[in-house]
Amino acid sequence: MSTDFERSDRTVFDLTGKVVVVVGGGQMPGPKIGNGRATAIVAARHGAEVVVVDRNLAAAQETVDMITAEKGNAYAVQADVADKDDCQRIFDTAMQNSGRVDGMVYSVAINPPFDRVNNSMSADDFNHGINVNMLGCYYCNLFAAQCMEKNEGGSTGSIINISSIASIKNEVGLNIGIMPYALGKCGLNYITELTAAQFAAAGIRANTLMLGPIDSTLGNTDSQSLFGFEPDEVDEAYAEVVKLKMGRASAWETGYAALYLLADESRFMTGQQIRLDGGATLVR
Ligand SMILES: NC(=O)c1ccc[n+]([C@@H]2O[C@H](COP(=O)([O-])OP(=O)(O)OC[C@H]3O[C@@H](n4cnc5c(N)ncnc54)[C@H](O)[C@@H]3O)[C@@H](O)[C@H]2O)c1
Repeated sequence: MSTDFERSDRTVFDLTGKVVVVVGGGQMPGPKIGNGRATAIVAARHGAEVVVVDRNLAAAQETVDMITAEKGNAYAVQADVADKDDCQRIFDTAMQNSGRVDGMVYSVAINPPFDRVNNSMSADDFNHGINVNMLGCYYCNLFAAQCMEKNEGGSTGSIINISSIASIKNEVGLNIGIMPYALGKCGLNYITELTAAQFAAAGIRANTLMLGPIDSTLGNTDSQSLFGFEPDEVDEAYAEVVKLKMGRASAWETGYAALYLLADESRFMTGQQIRLDGGATLVR
């Protein structure tokens, strides 16, 4: 945790001494690594103590085991971000166990079940989607920032909200299936800006990391339920439907973009929407 940027022997992107909470740091069961898990591992490899939070405790513990197997430092916290008290408990636990919070990555999202043929979704499922994708993000931003305000020195806090290009580019159209996700991400983009504006004076930063299609297990599963793509046709179909220019990235690339935002090297960057999308949202 040093800001001696002028030193020629500086270790860049060093998160030593920082406590980073990764919400959604487990991953849905499957072969492809998720964005939260990859970010947690990259942060630990760069010296952070990582608090791995997930509704699925086994998935969070699996991430912790991967980190500790590399001699990194992490522990798991089970929490459901649809529940405000659970959101508060995440940060109470981090403060109790680690004494501070320097980074928070919100990497949770769901696509609630819906009837694709009849274009219908229950109100409960819709509301649950908004609670997970947006309201949980609001509470985690607020509670994380309240912890970060207690940090002293030149290195205070960095919040990263993981968004999606579905919030600005949506080929599915007025389809109820995508709504809790797309609208939730629109809200998340805005929450980032409000957090950044409100807490800038305390040196706390908030940025949106907006992802294009990532080759995670969830990315493949959701493209099946939303678009009806078969797993072996996802790349080709995405290239056609989403007009991808560079195909899909792995979640490791998300982890490295997040690393920059977590590190002190980015301490003048706040309130931004950084698109990691291989040019998918370029209009030309
Ligand atoms: N994969 C993509 O193509 C893609 C594209 C754009 C954005 N994203 C974003 O990346 C983030 C992570 O997605 P991923 O594809 O890496 O999948 P993932 O399965 O690795 O991550 C989602 C995690 O959230 C957890 N989770 C779900 N509901 C929860 C709840 N109520 N409380 C706590 N945890 C909960 C899941 O258990 C899972 O571990 C999401 O915000 C998603 O919108 C992904």
